[in-house]
Amino acid sequence: MKAVIWTSYGPPEVLKVRDIARPEPKEHDVVVKVAVSNVFPGDCELRRLDMDFPWSLLVRTFCGLRAPKPDAILGQEYAGEVVAVGSAVKRFKIGDRVFGATERLTRGSYAEYVVTSGKTVVTLPENVSFDEAAVATVGGLNALDFLAIAGIAEGGPVKRLLIVGAGGSIGTMAVQIAKAFGAHVTVVDTTHKLKRLLDLGADRAVDFTAEDFTRDGELYDVVIDIVGRNVTGRNSLLRTLKAVKRGGTLVLGNPPFSHVLLRLVAGPFTGKKVRFALARYRIGELRRLKGLLRSGQVRPVIDRRFALDDVVAAHRYVETGQRVGNVVLVISGSGAHAASAV
Ligand SMILES: NC(=O)c1ccc[n+]([C@@H]2O[C@H](COP(=O)([O-])OP(=O)(O)OC[C@H]3O[C@@H](n4cnc5c(N)ncnc54)[C@H](OP(=O)(O)O)[C@@H]3O)[C@@H](O)[C@H]2O)c1
Repeated sequence: MKAVIWTSYGPPEVLKVRDIARPEPKEHDVVVKVAVSNVFPGDCELRRLDMDFPWSLLVRTFCGLRAPKPDAILGQEYAGEVVAVGSAVKRFKIGDRVFGATERLTRGSYAEYVVTSGKTVVTLPENVSFDEAAVATVGGLNALDFLAIAGIAEGGPVKRLLIVGAGGSIGTMAVQIAKAFGAHVTVVDTTHKLKRLLDLGADRAVDFTAEDFTRDGELYDVVIDIVGRNVTGRNSLLRTLKAVKRGGTLVLGNPPFSHVLLRLVAGPFTGKKVRFALARYRIGELRRLKGLLRSGQVRPVIDRRFALDDVVAAHRYVETGQRVGNVVLVISGSGAHAASAV
């Protein structure tokens, strides 16, 4: 099968399109022919491995110490069609349209086929396209997780929520899900992304290149910080906490390790909760996301599409910061109309 091999830690050019053996299912496995994947910013971070210690050590432990494991493939989410099932599989049959999250960091979806044990894959509603589903998965699951940690739920009390870094894969989903749950949502991102975020339902927008949300006097029940690293400059965790009401919650979606430690003291001393969210992809949440997609309460935001052969250009584009929402990687023609960047 054709796949993008992650040959070393470094710039986009370390990604090479090659032919490798197609994976075979075991008894409980399902093989999916991938129609589309998403160039998730987290893929770029893994590829570059430019994160703080000990996150970098953790990645090396799972993905390969000096270089990614042989035939390592990036890609954390996908949509496509079931083409083979193991003898014990009852939930899926050949021909089912499905979407899901991959199970191992080095066995990703930038490839014509993925094998899944079924833990994080569900059938696709008829009214949702492969593109929409593929880009909704990781962003949507993280968004649901962050909101649950912050106590924002359907039918719960109306809460004032601030999302820092709302214009990306996780944020564009979090804005819509939070609105569907009845929250009052303020977003923080860069100038050219704010109109799109207001169109998605955000109540208020703050341009971080011109304004400082920690000094404008507004207080929130919940702040979800998806950017993490130095979002408000030095000591950003303590400054960001200023925007949280007493008794409120700060959710750290992408913290440097120092903040994971600092939160243990910062919370108790300020009378605010500081929670660290670590991605957990569960079937129950994926079914919930499927319901939100089917009902049209959330519409994934697609910025551009690139063909598999243009994966290097796709990674470069994601790293420019121009994108709002997601960049689709078209793997096999099915369900997709275009090949090159559009
Ligand atoms: N906790 C977990 O388990 C978990 C799971 C998955 C992902 N993550 C991490 O979460 C992070 C965010 O994910 P994502 O996919 O949503 O990223 P993303 O698509 O890059 O979104 C981040 C957004 O924040 C904006 N931004 C940058 N600096 C900012 C600032 N100072 N203030 C406000 N906004 C700012 C970015 O703009 P520009 O593009 O212009 O920079 C971008 O629009 C990634 O680093 C990813 O690795 C964590």
